[in-house]
Amino acid sequence: MVNVIGLGYIGLPTALMMASHGVEVVGTDYNSSLVATLNDGKTTFKEDGLDELFVEALKAGIKFSTEYQICDTYIVSVPTPYDKLDKKIDPCYVVSACKTVLEIAPEGAVLVVESTVSPNTIDRFVRPLLVDAGRSDIKLVHAPERIIPGNMVYELLHNNRTIGADDPEVGQAVAQIYASFCQGEISVTDIRTAEMTKVVENTFRAVNIAFSNELAKICRIGGMDVAEVIRIANKHPRVNILNPGPGVGGHCIPVDPWFLVGDYPETANFIRLALQTNASMPEYVMHRTYEVMVEHGITDVSKVGIYGLTYKENVDDVRESPTLQMIESMSQHLCSGSMKIYDPWVEWDEVPGQVHSIEEFLKDIEVVIVMVGHSQIKNNPSIFGDRILIDPCNVCGDGEKVYKL
Ligand SMILES: NC(=O)c1ccc[n+]([C@@H]2O[C@H](COP(=O)([O-])OP(=O)(O)OC[C@H]3O[C@@H](n4cnc5c(N)ncnc54)[C@H](O)[C@@H]3O)[C@@H](O)[C@H]2O)c1
Repeated sequence: MVNVIGLGYIGLPTALMMASHGVEVVGTDYNSSLVATLNDGKTTFKEDGLDELFVEALKAGIKFSTEYQICDTYIVSVPTPYDKLDKKIDPCYVVSACKTVLEIAPEGAVLVVESTVSPNTIDRFVRPLLVDAGRSDIKLVHAPERIIPGNMVYELLHNNRTIGADDPEVGQAVAQIYASFCQGEISVTDIRTAEMTKVVENTFRAVNIAFSNELAKICRIGGMDVAEVIRIANKHPRVNILNPGPGVGGHCIPVDPWFLVGDYPETANFIRLALQTNASMPEYVMHRTYEVMVEHGITDVSKVGIYGLTYKENVDDVRESPTLQMIESMSQHLCSGSMKIYDPWVEWDEVPGQVHSIEEFLKDIEVVIVMVGHSQIKNNPSIFGDRILIDPCNVCGDGEKVYKL
């Protein structure tokens, strides 16, 4: 039996996927209201295909509990934030979950850390727990996850995976569990390589996004259309520049690369600069909005509305979102209070000024900052009428009143 610890964006779909492919699974989370919701037959976040997968897993007998289970394999999928000051990983959730596992795990159990961790985290923070608990029988594995919200179910089935283990045979055994559903290639390696690989993948994305964001700024100063420049440059057989945007959010790309900066502060300069460039984008959009307001003689901030609160399109995940970063930056300039904000995916009240219908949002608004290209508006800017659009995601097409980055 597998006990998946932490039933959030990663743990829940993983548990459901395993259960619906014949693995006996109990999902555990210490959040009792989350467990109660699952036991009531409801999922806890919106994701394409998740409800269908949930039904399959229930049929297959998955159970949810606030209690850790006695079983042979534990998969820990709890948060791994970073310390905002020193940029290093904060392993407290992983440490706490692993400690509890060690209290009840039977002899020879496998402890898989699926949470994203910086290189050496398992050696520095998890292995000593085994020593302290006198549990040298426990087999440690790291199995980082790569799925993207919005396409999780497909990617769980089709992505390649990495398994890092001290003992290659244990690595292969864990690979077999994941192979119950994963049709991608599973690379088995050692733990540190698996840790580093995951962080490197997100760092690769961060630096490439930063490059396109910097290009957007250069093209703005030089009076060039960055989208057209990138479109043509990408015709080169070995060039593949990403799209610039209003910033980077979510739980991975703006977070994980900081682990390398925190651990290698003298060396990871290029990565630090990339992260700073991405982090500068929400404020850049704010300045761009101000320029456009001046151009149109608009001085009243309450005429400006923000569309989109999530960190990417068609998900309800707002963590580290560029809009939240922009609101934070505005509040430092004492000007966020009067702005209306709307996101069709965020049905709860996340921030002051938020409204819950597009009609209410657009009332008395002259300028819309389109921070997220949800399918509600993608290539359908007519929903905004003849308002001025600030379009850092480049999803509103061309028009006299559409302003790109
Ligand atoms: N969200 C993503 O897109 C994504 C993608 C790849 C990897 N990851 C990584 O996966 C890990 C999990 O991220 P997430 O997005 O699922 O986080 P999350 O915050 O959505 O979920 C974590 C869950 O763990 C529970 N939890 C925390 N400590 C616990 C404990 N000691 N015992 C039991 N339950 C506990 C919380 O209640 C929460 O429900 C992180 O390391 C993250 O970096 C996330």
